[in-house]
Amino acid sequence: MSQATTPTVPDDHILGVYNRAPLAFERGKGARLYTEEGDVYLDCMAGIATTGLGHGHPKVLQALKDQADKLWHVSNVFRIPGQERLAARLCDETFADVVFFTNSGTEAVECALKTARKYHWAKGAPERIDIIGFEGAFHGRSYAAVYAAGNPSYVEGFGPALPGYVSLPFGDMEALAAAIASPTTAAVILEPVQGEGGARAVPETCLTELRALCDAHGVLVIYDEIQCGLGRTGKLFAHEWAPDAAPDIMCVAKALGDGFPVGACLATAEAAQGMTVGSHGSTYGGNPLAMAVGLAAFEELSRPETLRHVRDIAGYFTQALKGLQDRYPDVIVDIRGKGLLIGIKLIPNNRTFMALARDQHLLIAGGGDNCVRLLPSLLLTPEEAREAIEKIERTCEAIRQQAAA
Ligand SMILES: Cc1ncc(COP(=O)(O)O)c(C=O)c1O
Repeated sequence: MSQATTPTVPDDHILGVYNRAPLAFERGKGARLYTEEGDVYLDCMAGIATTGLGHGHPKVLQALKDQADKLWHVSNVFRIPGQERLAARLCDETFADVVFFTNSGTEAVECALKTARKYHWAKGAPERIDIIGFEGAFHGRSYAAVYAAGNPSYVEGFGPALPGYVSLPFGDMEALAAAIASPTTAAVILEPVQGEGGARAVPETCLTELRALCDAHGVLVIYDEIQCGLGRTGKLFAHEWAPDAAPDIMCVAKALGDGFPVGACLATAEAAQGMTVGSHGSTYGGNPLAMAVGLAAFEELSRPETLRHVRDIAGYFTQALKGLQDRYPDVIVDIRGKGLLIGIKLIPNNRTFMALARDQHLLIAGGGDNCVRLLPSLLLTPEEAREAIEKIERTCEAIRQQAAA
């Protein structure tokens, strides 16, 4: 058991749950962030895949301003036309029939897990409660979400384990087939491309096989596309790269609001049949302000030109990064991920690499398996992409010099 230390009040009065970099920003535009002192940073993490259209996208900003002048919030006891518009667009572009709007990704996951269990309950199989997740996953920080992901360090100290959560090794199709065949299994939840786990893409054949196995056993498929969805991989949703692999339920958030808190749980009418009046709800989820921003962002994210641009820029990054891997094999071990969810697996500590990248005024995210992640705005220009590569190269040089010192 770990020993509690004598508590001290932090100077900033902020609960100390984050390992923060010593940097604060005053404003942002596109892929640039500016400090109060006037320093400019190239943002290749985009709030961890959240400002998908960059900072202050003109159409999203205008939608926010227009709606702010009209109406911010009404309760979900009234019809909210903005919800109906955005739900229609999401359903038009996906497998889904219905949508529940949330304020965050975690809440979308919470809704997905409840929807899956309630489906089996409504179908007369209340014993089907088990949710199968994968090692390396991240689904958010609610009790259910941390157990769905199964990361031991995120559940430690928070009391007894929630029943009905099973964690399997990433990529173990045999274990997965056995778990799906269990009569108490309700659903499988996975990120088609793991984000926090270190930009690990699930092979497309595995997604197709997973769908077939779940169909054979009456188990629901839940995709967490909170990080990898909404254009990030170069298709609107990452699972679309795999044939015949549509889910029953899908969670989205992050880029849906381009930085404004919006999330959504999408489902087929079949999968959502247990979610009747009173079974779920939210005060803020889907309020008029969030919906105006979400609709504007979705229209931009879903444009074929945006998706094509992502594929082009991602192609450049992959090629250039593989070139860096060849030149710096003592620093870079692997380049992975999909589209603009790029993982660089390192030999030196990833935190050290991120700090040295910051010295180059480049912002990148960390990730599991000693990776750093590039998650830039989907609208990053070719010039900005080249600049990012130059800064990464200088970071590799700085790491070498540090090792030689
Ligand atoms: C794949 C995935 N799922 C869920 C979440 C949780 O989303 P939020 O932080 O908005 O609750 C995240 C956040 O990083 C994520 O990347």
